Amino acid sequence: MGILAGKQVVLGVSGGIAAYKSLLLVRALEKEGAGVHVIMTEHATNLVSPRLFRELSGNPVSTTMWGDVTNHHVAHIALATLADVFMIAPATANIIGKIASGIADDMLSTTITATTAPVVIAPAMNTNMFCNPVVQRNLQTLRDLGYHVVAPDAGELACGTVGAGRLPDTDVLVFAAEQALAAGLLRGKRVLVTAGGTREAIDPVRYIGNRSSGKMGYAIAREAARQGAQVTLVSGAEALPDPAGVEVVRITSAREMEAAVAARYETTDIVIKAAAVADYRPAEVAAQKIKKEANEEAPTLQLVKNPDILYGLGQKKTHQILVGFAAETENLLENAAKKIAKKNLDMLVANNVAEPDAGFNTDTNRVTFLFRNAEPEELPFLSKDEVAERIIRSVAELAKAR
Ligand code: PMT
Repeated sequence: MGILAGKQVVLGVSGGIAAYKSLLLVRALEKEGAGVHVIMTEHATNLVSPRLFRELSGNPVSTTMWGDVTNHHVAHIALATLADVFMIAPATANIIGKIASGIADDMLSTTITATTAPVVIAPAMNTNMFCNPVVQRNLQTLRDLGYHVVAPDAGELACGTVGAGRLPDTDVLVFAAEQALAAGLLRGKRVLVTAGGTREAIDPVRYIGNRSSGKMGYAIAREAARQGAQVTLVSGAEALPDPAGVEVVRITSAREMEAAVAARYETTDIVIKAAAVADYRPAEVAAQKIKKEANEEAPTLQLVKNPDILYGLGQKKTHQILVGFAAETENLLENAAKKIAKKNLDMLVANNVAEPDAGFNTDTNRVTFLFRNAEPEELPFLSKDEVAERIIRSVAELAKAR
């Protein structure tokens, strides 16, 4: 469970075609452990029945200032106060205009005026409406006032238009709620994370690889983005979906990873290298699939060294905070301590990969943090999401101390 567990989300549904998608959002928020309280505009009730939202959320649905459907005393104030985070999805041009102008003339616009919770606005409408300068001005007003505005997706809309205006997928909306709730520890920072293993080609169909799934690096990228950072994830992982709010650069080999990282290093504040990079690659890549000939000896694979990307970054370090990982099967702290000095790191995550529930391709991990000028910190057995939270907290402390 993440940051939404135990939190109360007040979800405003206004009258856009995408109102039906908000039913899925209710389910997704509940799956994260949040309580959901829905307010619908009158227009929205023409598109989706309030009963559906009531059944899915398990809470009364407010549709008017004057009804007696809720169990709250002075319902709009009670709901405004109850909210840990307030979301409007879909948000029509109408509700956006009302909020930006301070109009409070129905249950949703009145409640939002009364809340002090962070507010997430997810616009969804026809492309021309979305691009209308008045709507854009209103959205900018909301952004300037600290509202979290989620960019709509582009694609084919219900009206047949192709362009921006689609309500983003549920995971993007849930992520926006998490981001609004988070402390913003890395707000304004540019973070580069590497994840997954590299694959070094032998021939067109074979490669040297390792068992890294990318789970650890992806959890770090997600948490950094949740804490407000602008995150780039350089990834060799094959099976994981792109995390919401993160730019993903896909690479295959160590040399591709090196180039992707080098191109962004100067403008990056924090680098976290969770990837398992192959130390060696075949000296030559066969142009055609290597054939197994009868009566022939097994071929010998000649290897050459790959660049040590992290070492190179340590040599060129100027303003960056550099965090490395060390995957060790023995003498964990001793070997890790050598790496932090040799690679000129600010922090090193020593990863005990000898246990079956830690390291490669697991959902849990066992790690110890090493710093340049502080005692090592051994973490308890945790999920990779929890390890990621602790890494980002430590990195934020290092950034604050600069
Ligand atoms: O992806 P998962 O399945 O979730 O698994 C996570 C993990 C076990 C891969 C991860 O937690 C981890 O330990 N990553 C580092 C793995 C590794 O390559 O360790 P190392 O001790 O060989 O390398 C030390 C550091 O140098 C690492 O930050 C590595 O990214 C970097 N390195 C290594 C070799 C190389 N040629 N270039 C590098 O930049």
